[in-house]
Amino acid sequence: MAADARGLTEEDRATVRIENLVRSFGDRRVLDGLDLSIAPGEFVALLGRSGSGKSTLLRALAGLDHEVAGGGGLAAPDDVSVVFQDARLLPWKRLLGNVVLGLTGPLAEERGRAALAEVGLAGRERAWPVELSGGEQQRVSLARSLVREPRLLLADEPFGALDALTRIRMHALLRRLCERHRPAVLLVTHDVDEAIALADRVLVLDRGRIAADLPVRLPAPRDHAGAEYTALRARLLDRLGVRGTPSTGPEEEAA
Ligand SMILES: Nc1ncnc2c1ncn2[C@@H]1O[C@H](COP(=O)(O)OP(=O)(O)OP(=O)(O)O)[C@@H](O)[C@H]1O
Ligand SMILES: [Mg+2]
Repeated sequence: MAADARGLTEEDRATVRIENLVRSFGDRRVLDGLDLSIAPGEFVALLGRSGSGKSTLLRALAGLDHEVAGGGGLAAPDDVSVVFQDARLLPWKRLLGNVVLGLTGPLAEERGRAALAEVGLAGRERAWPVELSGGEQQRVSLARSLVREPRLLLADEPFGALDALTRIRMHALLRRLCERHRPAVLLVTHDVDEAIALADRVLVLDRGRIAADLPVRLPAPRDHAGAEYTALRARLLDRLGVRGTPSTGPEEEAA
């Protein structure tokens, strides 16, 4: 692997580096020697059947799981933000209070206001969470995550509870926010189209490991009708077992 002037390889500079990660519950190995690395600013989507261990992996990366083991390392930055399927706003705090929660410094409020404006909620700083729709709440949750300028954004099915139209708008918003703030992103989703629409690279988790690792080389805006799109979609669905094709060995393609 090529090294830079300081002798660092791409692997050394990675925001996330996991080797041989193992997580068992009882005698069931949910993560079974998983390897993964994510480059700074890279947007990675993670697909996998229900129960395949996606949330388990995210929890490990967020530092919320102290029982992961394995022969290798788990290197993830401390400045991680997490977005979940439900916005998890504090109902007794107004929107601005939710966004700046835990932020310190004289500019905290100003940054919170700017973050709310970025997600299209300027002027709603004093609203209560209960006054917002599900999509609006999720936008606050994104603002709260990104106002911290994390190096890594972990998102566990953040749009899973939204209607299709809102979801499409959220895709565009997330892409825009990520282009501006450049965190590395690991987005868990059940939706193959969402993965292809957003990510630089799509992974499939199966039997405790990354079973497919495919770069998305489609130009933006990504054309659902294009041949490349359709081929990538079919490969991913195959790996998810949706078409009933038995999976073979790991599938990988150099980026
Ligand atoms: N705290 C726990 N105790 C026991 N088993 C657990 C625990 N957390 C997760 N598991 C098990 O680990 C497996 C993976 O769970 P995980 O939540 O990571 O799946 P997932 O891929 O996120 O699924 P989904 O797509 O449904 O959200 C499941 O079989 C689950 O029952
Ligand atoms: Mg999950």
